[in-house]
Amino acid sequence: MTDLREIYPRFMLAPLAGYTDKAFRQIAHECGAEASVTEMVSAEGLARGSDKTELLLDRFPGENNLIVQLFAPSADPIERCIPALMKHNPAAIDINCGCPVPKVVKTGAGSALMRTPERMTEMVRTLKRETGLPVSVKFRLGWDSSSICFLDFADAAYDAGASMLTLHARTRAAGYSGTADRQAFKVLSDHMRGKDVLLFASGDIFTPEDAEDIIRNYGMDGVMFARGAIGNPFIFRMSSEFFSTGSYKLPSIEDKVDTAIRHLHLAAGYYGENTACREMRKHLMAYIKGIKGANKVKAEISQALTESECVMALQKLLEEK
Ligand SMILES: Cc1cc2nc3c(=O)[nH]c(=O)nc-3n(C[C@H](O)[C@H](O)[C@H](O)COP(=O)(O)O)c2cc1C
Repeated sequence: MTDLREIYPRFMLAPLAGYTDKAFRQIAHECGAEASVTEMVSAEGLARGSDKTELLLDRFPGENNLIVQLFAPSADPIERCIPALMKHNPAAIDINCGCPVPKVVKTGAGSALMRTPERMTEMVRTLKRETGLPVSVKFRLGWDSSSICFLDFADAAYDAGASMLTLHARTRAAGYSGTADRQAFKVLSDHMRGKDVLLFASGDIFTPEDAEDIIRNYGMDGVMFARGAIGNPFIFRMSSEFFSTGSYKLPSIEDKVDTAIRHLHLAAGYYGENTACREMRKHLMAYIKGIKGANKVKAEISQALTESECVMALQKLLEEK
């Protein structure tokens, strides 16, 4: 279990399509995240040698604990993508069984796998056999409220050899709305007690208090921060601090502005100024949410075309104080 704990530490950055690229993973790492999951990567795209897909597997310098999340409808594309996947030397592989987006689900991938668990188990077995790496599965409560099946799904993944399971405590039908069912974490951890598998929670984990509650009172080994980490990578350090001392320091406005600028700078270095300014808007807006004067700065960021225009807009928040 020791090695697995190094791959899957207590607080992880969740896979977030359109967000968890190498720039954001690097920022999360600098803010204390010891492991991050890539956004969902198409096994078919990887198998076909798509450059755009391969780009999602790029790591930041020094990233040595990269968990790659794959999505596929069956084991066939998974098996075919393995040579391309292994070139990136991942520490572990995660299988997406939770994506509710119709475009993905209608192919039989993502949360559609909750209705075809035998395909998920075949994927776990294939990845274990062909890569020898730890394999994890991220899934939901079930397809909808009348077909809750997460315990059977967890059993099937475990029997196939999964080393880690992440439950997003919502159904496919709920998407990202409504409240995650925290009680389900307890049901899962009681059910899996004594089994050699790590259990992670996902869903409405926004504060160090949420994370601590789930780990201490719901029997989970760790949590994945998702929307709670967007614009707030400080959540990793705050949660570790809270877990060990019972208190934590909130980021100052300077911390937020400095980190937003650093994130922008990394993205510009990786993708070029123009792409970074466009792609970073959603991140920058999230960093400054709630700060006095943010609305005016948001309007400027949405028009900015250069790194220095973005930086100048962000720095105005320090003058507003
Ligand atoms: C914009 C966005 C993109 C996401 N992309 C992925 C993804 O690629 N793979 C995945 O397993 N989950 C994905 N998720 C789900 C999150 O990892 C997480 O399980 C979910 O947001 C619940 O956590 P939260 O309520 O704390 O945000 C995504 C969620 C959001 C909001």
